Amino acid sequence: MCGIVAYMGSKNGVSVVLDGLRKLEYRGYDSAGIALFRRGRIEIRRSVGKLAGLEEKVRDEKLDGTPVIGHTRWATHGRPTEANAHPHNCEGVVVVHNGIIENYLELRRELIAAGHRFTSETDTEVISHLVVRELAVDGDFAAAVRRALLRVRGTYALAVLYEKEPGMMIAARQASPLVMALGEAAGEYFVASDIPALLKWSREVIFLDDGEMAVFTGSGMEVVGLAANDRRRKPVRHVAWDPIMAEKGGYKHFMLKEIFEQPTAVSNTVLGRLNSDRSRVELGEIGFPAERWEVFRELKIVACGTSWHAGLVAKYWLEKLARIPTEVDIASEFRYRDPLVDNKTLVIGISQSGETADTLAALKEARRRGATLLAVCNVMESSLARLCDGVLYTHAGPEIGVASTKAFTTQLTALFLLALELAARRRSLDECRITSLIGELLRLPQALEEILERAPDLERMARRYHQFSDYLYLGRGINFPIALEGALKLKEISYIHAEGYPAGEMKHGPIALIDEEMPVVVLAPPDRHLEKVVSNFQEVIARDGRLLLFSGPGLERPAEVAAADHFPVAEVDEELNPLLYVVPLQLLAYYTAVLKGTDVDQPRNLAKSVTVE
Ligand code: AGP
Repeated sequence: MCGIVAYMGSKNGVSVVLDGLRKLEYRGYDSAGIALFRRGRIEIRRSVGKLAGLEEKVRDEKLDGTPVIGHTRWATHGRPTEANAHPHNCEGVVVVHNGIIENYLELRRELIAAGHRFTSETDTEVISHLVVRELAVDGDFAAAVRRALLRVRGTYALAVLYEKEPGMMIAARQASPLVMALGEAAGEYFVASDIPALLKWSREVIFLDDGEMAVFTGSGMEVVGLAANDRRRKPVRHVAWDPIMAEKGGYKHFMLKEIFEQPTAVSNTVLGRLNSDRSRVELGEIGFPAERWEVFRELKIVACGTSWHAGLVAKYWLEKLARIPTEVDIASEFRYRDPLVDNKTLVIGISQSGETADTLAALKEARRRGATLLAVCNVMESSLARLCDGVLYTHAGPEIGVASTKAFTTQLTALFLLALELAARRRSLDECRITSLIGELLRLPQALEEILERAPDLERMARRYHQFSDYLYLGRGINFPIALEGALKLKEISYIHAEGYPAGEMKHGPIALIDEEMPVVVLAPPDRHLEKVVSNFQEVIARDGRLLLFSGPGLERPAEVAAADHFPVAEVDEELNPLLYVVPLQLLAYYTAVLKGTDVDQPRNLAKSVTVE
């Protein structure tokens, strides 16, 4: 949450930074601001609300300058007002920040006692004041920033300018993401919270590590460790993402584009992870030696939101196919419940962004208790990927829409591969079944394409129901988490109240809600639960509930189907139904939100990566 972008070089710095902020707006959109050097002074422009407000503000001024730092905010400390918008300035020290300064109240009190006056309610402002205080010691800007940051507890990715040092820009990181790129011309640098903001300029990037500070000047970039003040050499990494991937490409919303990218994204996740005759999964990239795989007696999965739903589906695969006990926890709950974890536990953290604070904290707790950590993650070199002992990347490409779609289906794909790999290692499935499941997985992108071709049917379905204010989503077994995910998608982007339930649980309470005002979305694939699910949705019909039925060819009872609004789904191996059934639910939520006129890609109050606990 919160995005920062900084630029130093000969391009129009304001356009570079605004362009980068546009790519990061998914991280927060409560306010936006920039600071730039212009005619030897630092000028600041800030605006409440989305970036468009700031763009409008600067458009007529034809602002240009360098260096420039910018920020898009997801409010934590202080309401979304202009005074609380970044950058924050104290006597020419200007800061943009993503993260939380945990000891800001204590520092603020100390600074106020020393005569400092604050102009915002934010935690960030203490940083500029601390730097000013340190500047009084020796006037050395870089040394002052370093000393100031040593006083700060919490998380930050930040960029700092100082009016008396127009040729210098500083960035630093502690537990919030920060990536940098060198421009083609000497003395040109780009800094951002996330890779998409840089892709237009470079695919060769440098990741700053926690506790490091980068000082950019016309003559080069120097990275130092904050604690030891030692110089660090940083490797340059190539990013496989294409700049076009971070554009809308003709779609009305990123979310729609990302839904339609799923057949390709799922194929990409499988790519390179099968042996030559496609009879076995090969995940050597995780890097665990064979003996280590033998040690695990149980798996624990920690994740949040949609990624947690992926974990819930994976539990079915890992237990049924690989026969290994698996627990799934919401990351923010895990660390506080004194979990039973030891050196025979493999803890899997699932996260699109790899920056979710709750998930990172849960994994750190698991490590403290001796577990081995595996990341299932989309963003290369994210905090999660760096923290874990092994990484399984999901290869979804950049996901910009705040509502996660292709990240989910690729997480499922990666986790399914992991289950097959474990099943082979543990000999819990025979080779023929593994080969057959791999074949089914390889056919899945075609089945996804067929669903996407029928998107107009889901748009029409959304038209029939978008006026209702409460929805129930029901699924059984491995499709129960898909009911949760369908409900989450609807809530997030259309602001309609929706709940997911195991279909068999409806009679234990939620059935009281059902009447003609309650659309009930039922997932009824042709699997072992079908008969039971049919009984469950009969209970809905009997109470005049409005039934939206997603089912496969197994359901050939015209009377039952006729009472419902029916979306037929092709038959695949029942293990893979979650990957298929989630897609029409994503589209139903999408079209409902469009009809309601909400901001689909940037729904209210949400941020894509939640970097606060
Ligand atoms: C999904 O649509 C949500 N926006 C949200 O629940 C998300 O999945 C959650 O915050 C976890 O994010 P992560 O995968 O980046 O860790």
